Amino acid sequence: MNRKDDIIVVQGNQTLTGKVSVSGAKNSALKLIAASILANDVCTIQNVPNISDIDIMCQVLESLGAKVDRKDHTLVIDSSFINSVEASYKLVSQMRASIAVLGPLVSRFGEAKVAMPGGCQIGARKIDMHLMGLRQLGVKFDVNFGYLNATVPSKLRGANIRLDFASVGATENILMASVCAEGRTIIDNAAREPEIVDLCNFLNEIGCSIHGAGTSVIEIEGVDVNSLHGCTYKTCGDRIEAGTYIVGGAATGGPLTVEGIDPDYLKTAIRKLRDMGVDVKIDKDSITVSRDATKPLRTVQVQTLPHPGFPTDLQAQFMLLACLAEGTSIITENVFENRFMFAAEIMRMGANISLQEHHAVVKGPVKLQGAPVSSTDLRAGASLVLAGIMAEGTTTVTEVGHIDRGYEDFVDKLCRLGAEIERKNPKK
Ligand code: EPZ
Repeated sequence: MNRKDDIIVVQGNQTLTGKVSVSGAKNSALKLIAASILANDVCTIQNVPNISDIDIMCQVLESLGAKVDRKDHTLVIDSSFINSVEASYKLVSQMRASIAVLGPLVSRFGEAKVAMPGGCQIGARKIDMHLMGLRQLGVKFDVNFGYLNATVPSKLRGANIRLDFASVGATENILMASVCAEGRTIIDNAAREPEIVDLCNFLNEIGCSIHGAGTSVIEIEGVDVNSLHGCTYKTCGDRIEAGTYIVGGAATGGPLTVEGIDPDYLKTAIRKLRDMGVDVKIDKDSITVSRDATKPLRTVQVQTLPHPGFPTDLQAQFMLLACLAEGTSIITENVFENRFMFAAEIMRMGANISLQEHHAVVKGPVKLQGAPVSSTDLRAGASLVLAGIMAEGTTTVTEVGHIDRGYEDFVDKLCRLGAEIERKNPKK
């Protein structure tokens, strides 16, 4: 049964309260799987979320020849069986993050053939910085028939690489292409996301030599590729999944506790919640939110930026919160060129939003009304379900395949928090 045709039916006027544990970070686990190519050995990756993007990345590794065993939330990958350097269009077109195999393949095999990743609803998702960085390391690219053909004519040499923008993907591919290059590589203006730190920790666990993870200057000392080996590694908690549930608790009143997350990952978002009048309590690996939902929130100004700035992956969620604030809030999207599609859908539920280039002007408070709506990307989809929980009446959300990409057991977790919500196949 194709669950992508499912719909999610949400009853409104519900309060999300109680405890929820987040899964491992999608945007880390996907790259750890790619990095396991380098080990030429067995890597055990724990706390891997059970989501469709992980399924696809596992298929990519298997298409290269790796053996992949999945037991609950643990992956055991034996990359010593890899006998191909080609990542097919069929798989890459389903999930553009497959491009993360490029760096590891050129490091280990000196070549790679990876389908050009398409764009997606939120933007063109260019890879020019990935290619610029790898070219500086000595990789040559031919692009034909929709494929990137990478070769290393002599050998990979360390380089000083400065990124125009602190791109997560470019930082990751340059990291994985430089770990066995001759000499030292410096990545200047590197991405600082917690998922980058997770990747660097994993790479050091398999024998690489990386310093400065989490800062904007990362130094990589090249090591012999044959010295790399397997490891056992636990993926960090998913800060965006955590932030999504936290917004659900803040929107409906809570108290709601998210467990399994380092609050340091969400400092900016937590500060914004407090500015809006939400009570936020933090512990070593949990965050609790609550507020009097009979009163409006205070307005908010959000500018999405690379970490530690406000995360673009929480932009839709905070646009939803801004609908509950008394006055005018401004949400500015600086990372992706087309990430306001959520606004169009939530306006159908009664939100008062005007879009001016990369600014969204949100006026409130507004009592949203349930309506049939459609997910445009995974974060907008999750936010539409949250909107349905706080709206008047019933909301049906379609294109839920987007949500499955990044949220494990989303409906079950929300039910356990008090939502009246069900997922069903409309054809049944
Ligand atoms: C990662 O995408 C995440 N995806 C995104 O999460 C996240 O929104 C994004 O980082 C920013 O935090 C994964 O990790 C799988 P970027 P990525 O390279 O690596 C432009 C989600 O919802 N750019 O930092 O693609 C690019 O077009 C997803 O989980 C270039 O122009 O992000 C974009 O506008 C959505 N040239 C901006 O930079 C390049 O060579 C940020 O891209 C690379 C990027």
